[in-house]
Amino acid sequence: MNRHVAPTKLISTEEDVTPTVLAAMEETSDPRFKEIVTSLVKHLHAFIQEVRPTEAEYEKGLQILNAIGQQTDDAHNEAVLICDVLGASTLIDLINNDGMQGETMSALLGPFYRGNAPECAYGDSIARSHTSGDPLVLKGRVVDVDGKPIAGATLDVWQASPDGLYENQDKDQSEFNLRGKFTTDQDGRYLIRTTKPAGYPVPTHTTTGDLLRAQKRTPMRPAHVHFIVSAPGCKTLITQIFADTDEAMLNDVVFGAKKQIAGDLVRHDEPTSKYPDVKAPFFTCAYDFILKPGVPAFPEPPIKGKVS
Ligand code: BEZ
Ligand code: FE
Repeated sequence: MNRHVAPTKLISTEEDVTPTVLAAMEETSDPRFKEIVTSLVKHLHAFIQEVRPTEAEYEKGLQILNAIGQQTDDAHNEAVLICDVLGASTLIDLINNDGMQGETMSALLGPFYRGNAPECAYGDSIARSHTSGDPLVLKGRVVDVDGKPIAGATLDVWQASPDGLYENQDKDQSEFNLRGKFTTDQDGRYLIRTTKPAGYPVPTHTTTGDLLRAQKRTPMRPAHVHFIVSAPGCKTLITQIFADTDEAMLNDVVFGAKKQIAGDLVRHDEPTSKYPDVKAPFFTCAYDFILKPGVPAFPEPPIKGKVS
């Protein structure tokens, strides 16, 4: 029902605008929505009053907002990308996942999760077409905060090729290359064969690239592998295992790298009987994921597929 109360006076000065707009939204029925939009208007107006944009600057700002939408398609998500480089995604992540209950630290989802990855068996390789880089064996357990193994947990894994592109960005990689969905065995164990990740630049051909160039910032992310780890009765964990130098971690363009989730990659120069079909030199990384109790929830994939 529209119970909007007509304002008693028309806006005539700069100072009239914020209270008049807030009054117009007073009857919003959903209290959380009201809180969010009220705060948004207060901060937006305060920002405008602090910066005092010219009309040309305002026009430019609106063009940027429109471009973010226009640059988004099934294979590229500009809104996620720009929020990532502005630090907003890492801030949201840390507000919602403080890592203080004994669980593995989380990290931002990023714009390249596409969902629907092929189901893999214990020990399968996610390198589905020719992929550069040394082999990597990732293995460990999914456990609860008391260390109890979780059988039947799901690990949705994805990474860029060491040439610097995710398969959806690259016509030369096969569909779902370096993506897969694993399930833990009776003892909560998983084993994933892949390729050692390398650092790569985030896409720079769109508005986000213009921003990074204007700010003289590196577009690089440190080497990492992404995971969404989930199980019934547990809070879904969105995280990354990092495998890079301190310097690369410190210069992560999206502020996602954390010491607590650095993996220890061990180099093997000789073949071993444990992994007879893995050619040396190769790397192994033992890594346990710890889930805390909660309700499983899954992110909407930012992209659907490949460049056409
Ligand atoms: C990624 O790690 O896939 C990523 C995260 C944020 C921006 C771009 C890429
Ligand atoms: Fe990534």
